[in-house]
Amino acid sequence: MRSKLVVANWKMNGSTSFASSITSDLISEKVADLNVGAVLCPPFPYLQAVKSFLEESGLDVGAQDVSSQASGAYTGEVSADMLVELGAKWVIIGHSERRAYHNETDELVVAKTRMALSAGLTPICCVGETLDQRNADKTEEVVGAQINALVEAFSATGQISDLVIAYEPVWAIGTGMTATPDQAQGVHKFIRGLLGEAGASVSILYGGSVKPGNAAELFGQPDIDGGLIGGASLVSQDFIEICRAADVTES
Ligand code: PGA
Repeated sequence: MRSKLVVANWKMNGSTSFASSITSDLISEKVADLNVGAVLCPPFPYLQAVKSFLEESGLDVGAQDVSSQASGAYTGEVSADMLVELGAKWVIIGHSERRAYHNETDELVVAKTRMALSAGLTPICCVGETLDQRNADKTEEVVGAQINALVEAFSATGQISDLVIAYEPVWAIGTGMTATPDQAQGVHKFIRGLLGEAGASVSILYGGSVKPGNAAELFGQPDIDGGLIGGASLVSQDFIEICRAADVTES
């Protein structure tokens, strides 16, 4: 049975005081006692603070990106080993905002994923189609190519089983437009099929305007193993309710 996972993607939001207050809410509301893995991904400068606020709470810290390089003259980059040193266990890779605003290609996503795996981080690799692509009936073509790049790179070594996949339709991110549970389930099932044998054990998260009001229905789908949460992860009560919604619907 795949365990449920809910990941907070703060994007470029937050502050030390925000980190302090939301972590104390999550601890006092006993989110770690739920049968759900919960991970907070703050911007790089707050990783260490979030890690120390969470102490031994059982909640994890992750980063929103990682360099494809190990070290050296790469101004502005942050290496996988640095993330591990700060206590991160997870890293989001290939988010659609990075693909769109920083021209990240499948090739770069694979290189970053390789670096994360070699440092012992769990990569959360993001895939998803734009609205134009969906309307042109190209969802499976686009998502299939993004997934196949990972399958080609990591199947032979068996490392494909160490990935988490996040399906995030670009048109649903931050727009308030959520994929219907059926739409999301259809793509999740398609992705699981592409993963081959590893598909049985790889967690596939849904992301895109997940809110307390739609989380339970989405997480109740057989191939949806939790969520990658943007806007709602910045409101502690909303994030807590989303984590609870993941708990009642085990796959
Ligand atoms: P959203 O963002 O929940 O605000 O739509 C999700 C994401 O981009 O990971």
